[in-house]
Amino acid sequence: MPDALGDWERTHDCCALRAEHVGAEARLMGWVNRRRDHGGVIFVDLRDRWGLTQVVFDPRVDAALFAAAERLRNEFVIAVGGKVRRRPPGQENPKLPTGDVEVIAAELKTLSASDTLPIYVNEEGDEDERVRLRYRYLDLRRERMQRNLAFRSRAAKAVRDFMDSEGFLEIDTPVLAKSTPEGARDFLVPSRLLKGAFYALPQSPQLFKQVLMASGFERYYQIVKCYRDEDLRADRQPEHTQIDLEMSFAREEHVFTLVERLIRELFAKTLGVEARTPFPRMSFAEAALKYGTDKPDGRYGLEVMDVTEALTGSEFKVFENVIRLGGRIRGFRVPGGAALSRKDIDDLITFAQKAGAAGLAWMKVKEDSLESSIVKYFSEPHQKALRTVMSAAPGDLLAFIAGQEKSLTPVAGDLRMYLAEKLGLQPRERFSFLWVTDFPLFEWDAEAKGWAPMHHVFTMPREEDIAILDSDPSRVRGRQYDLVLNGVEIGSGSVRIHLPELQKKVFGVIGMTEEYASDQFGFLLEAFRYGAPPHCGIALGFDRLLMLMLDEPSIREVIPFPKTQTGADLMTGAPSPVRPEQLVEVGIRLIERKKDADAPEKNTQGFMR
Ligand code: AMO
Repeated sequence: MPDALGDWERTHDCCALRAEHVGAEARLMGWVNRRRDHGGVIFVDLRDRWGLTQVVFDPRVDAALFAAAERLRNEFVIAVGGKVRRRPPGQENPKLPTGDVEVIAAELKTLSASDTLPIYVNEEGDEDERVRLRYRYLDLRRERMQRNLAFRSRAAKAVRDFMDSEGFLEIDTPVLAKSTPEGARDFLVPSRLLKGAFYALPQSPQLFKQVLMASGFERYYQIVKCYRDEDLRADRQPEHTQIDLEMSFAREEHVFTLVERLIRELFAKTLGVEARTPFPRMSFAEAALKYGTDKPDGRYGLEVMDVTEALTGSEFKVFENVIRLGGRIRGFRVPGGAALSRKDIDDLITFAQKAGAAGLAWMKVKEDSLESSIVKYFSEPHQKALRTVMSAAPGDLLAFIAGQEKSLTPVAGDLRMYLAEKLGLQPRERFSFLWVTDFPLFEWDAEAKGWAPMHHVFTMPREEDIAILDSDPSRVRGRQYDLVLNGVEIGSGSVRIHLPELQKKVFGVIGMTEEYASDQFGFLLEAFRYGAPPHCGIALGFDRLLMLMLDEPSIREVIPFPKTQTGADLMTGAPSPVRPEQLVEVGIRLIERKKDADAPEKNTQGFMR
């Protein structure tokens, strides 16, 4: 087989030629992005990774070459050579960096042909995403994916450069790891040599990075794949990438400033955007109250207010009953909302009910009165107090939901985002970062009827709360922090427990026996017995960060080969059955599964992530 390229060398890439190259000879290689026949002349937009260049085949210049060009189709791979000339006046394309010039073809080599394409490459198709994923190799040729993956590469480089300059070592950790009870289900890998035993793909390098701190590396980071068998969403994949880091002799402030500087550098280098630092901080409790979520989207106002006190003692039975049962009333002040139509308000009520509220009460704010069918139940002082507490102004709509705090909080959060969208609120800024701190260390697992760690079992409790670890776990706050960007959790970390005694106590609260703990992560507890430095760290979701930086709707747009909702790779066909011999080798016999047995069981063991 002769070498397809022969002695041809590329002289330029497809984004290189400019007016100053007019008269020069160029040899280009790439894909036929589009072929147009115009007035007896063929134009080929030649595409490579860098851009597009227009190539002209003119029968008056070379009839045989013109005939060859007639056989070209989209996505043929070709090499062309010829002279660069200025495009005729009026035919320049200001949208292309090469738009002032074209190459007059004098030689053409077809390096490979293309079958009829299942999807267009030269334009964004409106085909189903499954089709894009099935033909991912073609989808990846498209401008959007080329741009996104090049951006991903530059972003990873910027992260590495920064971490390196800060004295962090990139240390890799095993992919074949030990199964430990973490937040999600493990992906298991059977061992051939030790039949009946399994590796687990790591849900994160958490245990290893803490071991690395015990081993004295002090500053570790890694851009690393993590594997979690959990239900997928737009911002969740079974394998995702984290910027994972851990540092010794450090506390929250060190992580905050380091990450803020990392983000500043990353945004400046890749987007040319200045990320304003320091990022604001908010406690979990405040976030829950004001935004109804632990990941508030700070781009919009519309804070939720607690108006229970202002409204207590009214004639409005619905609220009074809730208050009597220990519930709360939360309100929104919707600027300009008095202009909403009856239908808009009905939609709002329906949305609130669907989100889980019993109902939604509302009042319109007039110059010196409040208006709605329920206003009559509130005395003059109540109305006055309400206007003051909510800083109500004429033209506002005041909306209220009432119920028990736990169920009310997420409804308020959902309503807030619904209103922001419904009112077409403009984001106050493009990127809104927020640190959320002081998470409860534990949450009640109703199914398992016990306490489970909110983040993971190695998070250090706040010092002043250690005394109530046994007596009142619900009030213990953890030294945990999340980083939120535009309402998406892009990172999570904590100060870790490095003292075996305290660790034992925390295991005790979640009902984990010493034997079990020692079986699961005895190596870490053991490592800590030989002198462990205080340490803390964080992991940023790299895919989520890129998704937001590029304003993409899903992390699948920034991952080269993502999986579908059911965890399938439509291009390769994974996961797929394996040959019976392969199963025998690893000592596995498949059991017949009834159809309905395919429903996943619920995992209630949230010990660690
Ligand atoms: P956590 O589980 O919160 O923490 O994960 C850290 C960050 O990783 C991203 N992330 C995901 N992105 C896409 N798909 C997923 N399935 C997925 N799961 C998580 C999120 C999240 O904030 N070991 C700890 C970190 C630490 O304590 O240092 C951990 O993994 O952006």
